[in-house]
Amino acid sequence: MASANTAIRDEPAHIRELLTRLHAESKAQEANITREDYDNRSSMHDVMRDKFIALDEDKAHYIYQLLRATGATTIVEAGTSFGVSTIYLALAALANAKATNGKKALVVATEHEPTKAERAREHWNMCGDDVVSAIDLRVGDLRETLKMNLKEVDFLLLDIWTPMALPTLKIVQPHLRHGAMIIADNTIMAADSYKEFLDYIRAPGSGFIDTTVPFEGGLEVMVYSPSQ
Ligand SMILES: C[S@@+](CC[C@H](N)C(=O)[O-])C[C@H]1O[C@@H](n2cnc3c(N)ncnc32)[C@H](O)[C@@H]1O
Repeated sequence: MASANTAIRDEPAHIRELLTRLHAESKAQEANITREDYDNRSSMHDVMRDKFIALDEDKAHYIYQLLRATGATTIVEAGTSFGVSTIYLALAALANAKATNGKKALVVATEHEPTKAERAREHWNMCGDDVVSAIDLRVGDLRETLKMNLKEVDFLLLDIWTPMALPTLKIVQPHLRHGAMIIADNTIMAADSYKEFLDYIRAPGSGFIDTTVPFEGGLEVMVYSPSQ
């Protein structure tokens, strides 16, 4: 989808330009990734080590808009890579925090691969101190790094290899506030590998209300609203 930096048009120009450039780099890389690269679990990590696989630009804008609508200030991101989506999360959390009395913006970002984490930090430094100060990057396997120091979470972005989506949700679920939003990427394209995850959130009484939004590949938008 063509973008005129719609949802983020009031954010600083140098950040919008950076995001446009990074999305273009990510798309150029993705054109050379094959279905087998995604499906071959043994070689996948090597292939993906230097790849963005950034969230699509239109989805990122939509998520920024949802974040601004819900006033989220505490956000968890599962799968940070080179930190593109994290920038949108940080910008929205900062704008939301500014509109409240005393809330602090916090994006807990997670990346397994140290070289990717390093690149993410470089991109955030280009954005400036506000963005840098809003992000708590946890390097390592998120099944360990998310176990500690989680406050009440307003928003969870699942942009991670699909087998990791359900374990991540289960770790974060006890910290989700009532009405928290959860987003999972590519739930139409990768419906088979998301099966366990989708069965879990769609089970009667799960507490999750979900809609599949028909972006390319699908985007699952969930609200956590448990009855007790
Ligand atoms: C699709 S990419 C994330 C893209 C990013 N959200 C963006 O829009 O720029 C998924 C990332 O999750 C990371 N990842 C996979 N398994 C992980 C785990 N167990 N713990 C932490 N990070 C993991 C991968 O290294 C990869 O960089």
